[in-house]
Amino acid sequence: MPYQNSPHYIDETPGTKYYCTCGESGNKPYCDGSHETKKTGKQPMQYNVDAARRMAICDCGKTGNSPFCDGTHSK
Ligand code: FES
Repeated sequence: MPYQNSPHYIDETPGTKYYCTCGESGNKPYCDGSHETKKTGKQPMQYNVDAARRMAICDCGKTGNSPFCDGTHSK
């Protein structure tokens, strides 16, 4: 599944998350290990969510504030 030109809006729960940065996961915005099987050379972004909240996770691969969308996809 390639990168998209929009973020994933999710109601995230607390805990350690691994967000896909390679664009190949079949379970976006989370890593499913495809970066290894497809040899993308990328690694997932580990992020600790401290409280339940709505988040916009980058799926264009161009954000300067990973794992969050910073609006770069629309520029
Ligand atoms: S599947 Fe994309 S970083 Fe792991």
